Amino acid sequence: MNTPNPIPFLDLQAVTAEIRDELDAAWKATVDNCAFIGGVAVESFEEAFARYTATTNCIGVANGTDALELILAGLGVGEGDEVIVPANTFIATAEAVAHCGAKAVFADVDPDTALLTAETIRPVMSPRTVAVMAVHLYGQPVDVDDLATVTGPAGVAIIEDAAQAHGATLRGRPVGSLGVAAGFSFYPGKNLGALGDGGAVTTSDAQLAERIRVIANHGRALDSRYDHILLGRNSRLDGLQAAALEVKLRHLDAANDGRRTAAKAYEASLPSGFAPLTDRDDVSSVYHLYIVRCMTEARDTVTARLDEGRVGWGLHYPVPCHRHEPFANAPRADLSATEELADQILSLPMFPSLDGQSIGRVCEVLGADDQSR
Ligand SMILES: Cc1ncc(COP(=O)(O)O)c(C=O)c1O
Repeated sequence: MNTPNPIPFLDLQAVTAEIRDELDAAWKATVDNCAFIGGVAVESFEEAFARYTATTNCIGVANGTDALELILAGLGVGEGDEVIVPANTFIATAEAVAHCGAKAVFADVDPDTALLTAETIRPVMSPRTVAVMAVHLYGQPVDVDDLATVTGPAGVAIIEDAAQAHGATLRGRPVGSLGVAAGFSFYPGKNLGALGDGGAVTTSDAQLAERIRVIANHGRALDSRYDHILLGRNSRLDGLQAAALEVKLRHLDAANDGRRTAAKAYEASLPSGFAPLTDRDDVSSVYHLYIVRCMTEARDTVTARLDEGRVGWGLHYPVPCHRHEPFANAPRADLSATEELADQILSLPMFPSLDGQSIGRVCEVLGADDQSR
């Protein structure tokens, strides 16, 4: 029997190869002008990304976790404050809260979308709640208008964790512009990925933007090089990454369209026993990940079959935040939906150039039972 070609979970080689000449030229220009930290490439990318997210400010930072932490610090969140975090997210969302000295309080998610809703945050709202981390997980925006029915009257800020949702929209409004501020990650595998670590904050609050810019650069005043006016730190986007990101930003919409086409193809071919998450009608998702729930078979059995069929896969996330040691004692709601998702979810191959034939083979391997193999 012929061994089938492997289908990777993510084909970064393909993503990079398509724009290799543009990337080389952008890096060469930065090496030539030596603006390695700050400078022309960073400023140009910040302007372009603010425009893309329909905001007035973008601050390039070192990574997505820093972006979230800097937003919280810029808002003055700290000791004695509580911040609501979905239990179903990458640990960085909760880490950012803890590093500010505040308490992460875990909320459950909607079982169909795996996202926060007004209903899931209501049980964990308290007089100490100052913010909610609206994590647009897997590429689908949280309905922040729904969240606002609970947070608005209480004066609680909505902070977007947009690490997995570059280019997604909610009722036509881009993520990055949906809360008081948004944190983006440019980790290489993200929809908009750098060639190393990188991140950004977007916000239309000019004062908040200024505070974040100051904190991220050692607390240095924007207009006085030798004055350090806030307790700061070092979290900056470098010129080489910014140059690469601006190239990739030009291709982001086309890349997201490729992911949407792949998602449609999956939906048409998924075998029984595998349920996709629900895509709401009021969003345009960017499918950072394509998630199915294993409804009838144990997930280990399915992943063993994928391994045998040389199909890449991932789990996002099999251990929810509240079950990791650093958050073992964190306050939480009843997290039944999160717990069930953690046991069932499976991430299938997803990247812009994933073709219909490969998707057909992934679904064939998924659907093959013991006798037919
Ligand atoms: C939902 C979410 N939040 C935050 C982050 C943190 O981003 P970074 O790895 O750039 O620090 C990630 C990255 O994996 C993420 O997926």
